[in-house]
Amino acid sequence: MPDRELSDPLDALREQIPLLQTHAYLANCSQAPLARPVRAALEGFLTTWSEDGMDWEIWMAEVERARSAFAALIGASPEQIAVGTSVSQLVSSLASALVQDSQLLSRRIVSSVAEFPGVAHAWLATRAAGWQVEQLEADERGVVSAEQFHAALQQTPPSLLSLPHVCYANGALLPLDELVEDAHERGAYVFVDAYQSIGTVPINVQSTPVDFLAAGTLKYLCGTAGIAFLYVSPRVQAELKPTITGWFGRQNPFAFDARLLDYAPGAARFDLGTPPVINAYTARAGMELILQTGVERIRAHVLHLSTLAQELGQQLGLTLAGPVDPAKRGATTAFDVGSPERAHQLEAILRQQNIVVSARGQIVRSAPHGFTREEEIRHALTTLADLAKKA
Ligand SMILES: Cc1ncc(COP(=O)(O)O)c(C=O)c1O
Repeated sequence: MPDRELSDPLDALREQIPLLQTHAYLANCSQAPLARPVRAALEGFLTTWSEDGMDWEIWMAEVERARSAFAALIGASPEQIAVGTSVSQLVSSLASALVQDSQLLSRRIVSSVAEFPGVAHAWLATRAAGWQVEQLEADERGVVSAEQFHAALQQTPPSLLSLPHVCYANGALLPLDELVEDAHERGAYVFVDAYQSIGTVPINVQSTPVDFLAAGTLKYLCGTAGIAFLYVSPRVQAELKPTITGWFGRQNPFAFDARLLDYAPGAARFDLGTPPVINAYTARAGMELILQTGVERIRAHVLHLSTLAQELGQQLGLTLAGPVDPAKRGATTAFDVGSPERAHQLEAILRQQNIVVSARGQIVRSAPHGFTREEEIRHALTTLADLAKKA
């Protein structure tokens, strides 16, 4: 495969990350490395706290900037975005609203084992309210296919179809457009967990009209844990009254009215307590960095690196899990190394050699970003294959 020069914005992104001078960093499916603007944002928070003690106006403005940056990433507007502390928390709030909604056509969710557990568990918890949750099983490569979701939609139509855009375990990428169209024709809402795709796979809720979409920022958005966002389509917002709620979900939180449980008009009805201010600083800076770099550009580069990883992995005798076709994967290329112990051991040994990958179960995940270079993939996979041979 011919070597390809990185275009400028990708170089500029790389320049912002000091760790890349010493490490081949391929664990972006778990946590992206610290970028200078993110550090500066965090220090900005510390400055206001240290110099002013409290500065709620500025802190809340930063939360709103983070909300707007997330909205910009998915083609939404800020009032369509709720701010929470984790995807699990936001999905639990959403589930609490769905089970209250008497207008829904059934009390059934179609989900799958490809779902991140925190999301799957929030759906499973609706069984306590009498809901049925169907979890589609994966094939021998760990993939739950689009065809399986279509087939499940044809049976008793669910109220909700839950889709992991990119599977955390093996990188499998679902074709959202056709699934959203099918689900909507049958009257089902669509929830998308975009945690593993956002920042590396373009998403636009105008052209792909999902009903709900959630993600946090610590992976490809270059932020930290402790903040997450939920897009709620304006088509459905008004119906939903989460019982997992808090004072920031009110029409006017600053009315401080303990007697009044009203719901904010937009997605903010899913906001809970005092927002995650510190994390909003890092999230905003990380998302702006990705917006400046351009998600389309990152996708093209990552696709190129995934092709390289798949071809090289095969040449080196590594066992690929998940879809073979790089176009059917997000940023992750997954290698099956036989056992969870082996995967974690390999992760630790590679780490000692300044190669950062991420183990999940018996899989070692190579997850590049827009800042990754071809030689880093080559170095990491060659070292991984050498180690894997030494049983
Ligand atoms: C696809 C996906 N969803 C959700 C999560 C985690 O969500 P939470 O914010 O609840 O920890 C992860 C994190 O690893 C993930 O990969």
